[in-house]
Amino acid sequence: MPELDLPQRQATDTLMLTGFWYRALPADRVHRNQLYKATLLEIPLVIGRDRLGQPFAMRDACPHRGMPLNCGQFDGENLECGYHGWQFDVHNGQCQLIPSLTADQKLKVDRIYAGSYPCEEQDNFIWVYIPDTGPPGAGFGPPSEPRDEAPQIEKFTDKYKLAYLQAEMPVSIDHGIIGLMDPAHGPFVHQAWWWRSRHSIHEKQKNFEPIPNGFRMSAHTPSSNSAPYKLLRLYAKADSITTTIDFVLPNIRTETIRAGKYWFSSLTTVTPITRNRCRIDVVAAWNLFRLFPFVPGLMKFVFAKFVEQDRRTMELQAEGLQHNPHLMLIDDADRPAKWYFHLKAAYLESKRTGSEMKHPMSGPVTLKWRS
Ligand code: FES
Ligand SMILES: [Fe+2]
Repeated sequence: MPELDLPQRQATDTLMLTGFWYRALPADRVHRNQLYKATLLEIPLVIGRDRLGQPFAMRDACPHRGMPLNCGQFDGENLECGYHGWQFDVHNGQCQLIPSLTADQKLKVDRIYAGSYPCEEQDNFIWVYIPDTGPPGAGFGPPSEPRDEAPQIEKFTDKYKLAYLQAEMPVSIDHGIIGLMDPAHGPFVHQAWWWRSRHSIHEKQKNFEPIPNGFRMSAHTPSSNSAPYKLLRLYAKADSITTTIDFVLPNIRTETIRAGKYWFSSLTTVTPITRNRCRIDVVAAWNLFRLFPFVPGLMKFVFAKFVEQDRRTMELQAEGLQHNPHLMLIDDADRPAKWYFHLKAAYLESKRTGSEMKHPMSGPVTLKWRS
C-alpha cells in the first residue's frame, strides 16, 4: 500500500521547504532599535527594526566566532557583536568594521557577511524569506533575492479591521498542516453548543480543484448547521454566502467569506520552528460587524478557543507520536493531507531536476465525508 507509506516517512524526518516566505514575529511586538530572537526552520534569527522602522532579519550567529548577535549593541543602523565588536549592516549583513585591525592590515572587511534575510512587513507580521541553502561551508554573501513578495491577505475594501492570534505546537510542520486541513476532527475536537457536536455529524460533499502550488475548496455555501453562519446571513441580508478555502505550499491556508458587500478573509500559516515544533498564526481581516463593535472581540474569543483546542490536541498527539506509531491516511477525509504530501514531494522533485512542478491533481475532484 504505497499511499500509506508517505506520512509515516514524513513523520520521522520532516522536510522543511526553503525558497519561501515565512512569518517570523507579530509586527506590533517589534520596536525600533531593539533586538528580538526568533527561530525559523531551525535557523536562529535576530530580528529588529532600524531607526526608520524598517524591519530586518539576520542569522543570530556572528560569522567571526559564532556569538549570538542578539546579545550585541544596535544603534539603529549597524549591529555590533558583543564579543570582539565587529559591526554589520543589518539590512545586507555586510561587515562594516573590525576594531582589532591596524591601519596597515589590509583584510577586506566588506567581503565578510553575517547571513541576512529578505524581510517584509505584511498584515501585521514580519515575514522572512528563507532561501535555498547554499553549498555547505560556503559562508554568507549578500542576501538572496526572493522570488516574489510576502503573501498578503486578500481585501475587498479600503477600510477593514485586522486581528491575529498564534499558538505553538510540539509537532512537526507536517502534522501541524494536515491537522489544519483535516475535515473530520471538527465534531470531536471543536465541540461547542453554538458550533456543532457529534450529533450534528452528517455527510458532506465538497469540490476541490488544483491551483498553482496547491488546491482550492471551490466556492461553496458554508454548512448551515452552525449558528454563526445563520447569523451572518441574517446580518448581511445576503441571499448567498460563499466561502473559498485555498491551501498553497509551503504552509498557507486562506479562507474568504463573502456575503453581499461584506467580507471576511483570513490567512493562516503553520510555520516550522524546528523539526518537532511549529507555530500556527491566524491573521484575519474583515469589513463586517461595523454596526456591532463587540462582535470582533467575540470572534477572536471563538477563534482563540478553536486554536487552543487544536493546540491541546496536537500536544497530546505529540505524546503518541514519540513512539513512532504506524500512521495511515484514509479516503476521502484525509485526501487533502495526501495532496499536501504529494505537492511537497513534487515541489522538491522539480527543484532537484530543474523541471516544471508536476501537480498531483489532474483536475477537479469531489470528496465526500461525514463530519
Ligand atoms: S564573535 Fe563576533 S566579533 Fe568575534
Ligand atoms: Fe481544528
